[in-house]
Amino acid sequence: MGGLGIMINHRKFSYMFQNQKIAKDIYYVGVNDRQKHKFENMISLPNGVSYNSYLIMDEKTALVDTVDISFGDIFIEKIQSQLQGRTLDYLIINHMEPDHSGSIRIIRKYYPEMIIVGNIKTLSMVDGYYGVTDNTLEIKDGQILSLGTHKLEFHLTPMVHWPETMMTFDQATKVLFTGDAFGCFGTLDGAVVDQDMNVDKYWDEMARYYANIVGKYGAPIQKALKKLTPIDFEIICSTHGPVWKKYITEVVDMYDQFSRYHGEDGVVIIYGSMYGNTELMAETVAQGLSQSGVKNIIIHNVSKSDPSIIIRDIFKYKGIIVGSPTYSNELYPEVESLLRKIEIRQVKNRVFGCFGSYTWASAAIKRLTTFVETMKWQSAEITVDEKQGLKEDNYKACLELGRQVAVLMKNLVDEPEHCV
Ligand code: FEO
Repeated sequence: MGGLGIMINHRKFSYMFQNQKIAKDIYYVGVNDRQKHKFENMISLPNGVSYNSYLIMDEKTALVDTVDISFGDIFIEKIQSQLQGRTLDYLIINHMEPDHSGSIRIIRKYYPEMIIVGNIKTLSMVDGYYGVTDNTLEIKDGQILSLGTHKLEFHLTPMVHWPETMMTFDQATKVLFTGDAFGCFGTLDGAVVDQDMNVDKYWDEMARYYANIVGKYGAPIQKALKKLTPIDFEIICSTHGPVWKKYITEVVDMYDQFSRYHGEDGVVIIYGSMYGNTELMAETVAQGLSQSGVKNIIIHNVSKSDPSIIIRDIFKYKGIIVGSPTYSNELYPEVESLLRKIEIRQVKNRVFGCFGSYTWASAAIKRLTTFVETMKWQSAEITVDEKQGLKEDNYKACLELGRQVAVLMKNLVDEPEHCV
């Protein structure tokens, strides 16, 4: 009976939400996901994630992006609470990935006259994913849509993160709705705007988000940043994480640095090890780095570290050293899996070293050498390949590998072709 009572009384609660105001006439109607274990069913979410959506209340009303359908019910109630019986005139779609477009169909059911606004690629995806083809408005790059006081400018920014991605700038409030760009993992715990919270916990999550989600698209992000230069935006409303007002410079700078593949001084050692022999080599390489003055040395056991954190660190630092045993005449599978993640993201301009061990036939070093050729990274001359347990000559070689990578790292400069 209690559950039924809640169902019967549901409507009377539908206007209860007090949505947070972001700027004049603009309200946050997004949701937190504290339930999903893995984003895209791959990337861990220890701190959850938010799906951000914004409602503009003018002569015409407009919603900017939606949320994952798992939260469609509460999302609709937030919108209704703000509209207070008014209709929803427009849905602006900056990005079609289903964590943002998932609620399109349910919103259309509540507001059948609502016009869906997107570029030609967006509207094709709206049809493809949701079978919606009516009441749509195709906009072109630079086009303006007036809601009354608020004039929305559309800026196409393809491949930040999908081909249809665009940004929407509100001339009246100088709010820039950016889609995934400048987004990060981590739920919004009470506050929505950066100046109302301690943002410390978001920086690492922004780096992890960038590296894992949009890391492959450095060149399109650089293009988008260049395109944004003449736009005098004062607030960034991304689809994930805080609304940025106070820390805009830091956030844009982080995206700029990462998309240029600029690494900090430091080396990430990634290894797999079944019985500790390759692990001992990793420890020794780290010692060689330290003897050469490298202060930032991060060691990841691939069988234990979260892959999304390893990927984050690869984007963060200049040097990568990989160690693997030979396993059934191939690379240790956990290391292979990690290499594929790096290859997919096409990380550029790193220095590299490798080491491995085997029992009766060596294969790991061959694959690691092929890997670095594919990545076009600078590689240390020395590779260390030990048969069975680590012995003194290869102990010394591991120290030397660390030293060689340290020298390469110190001499590495950002490549001009990766910069705007
Ligand atoms: Fe948050 Fe590319 O979707």
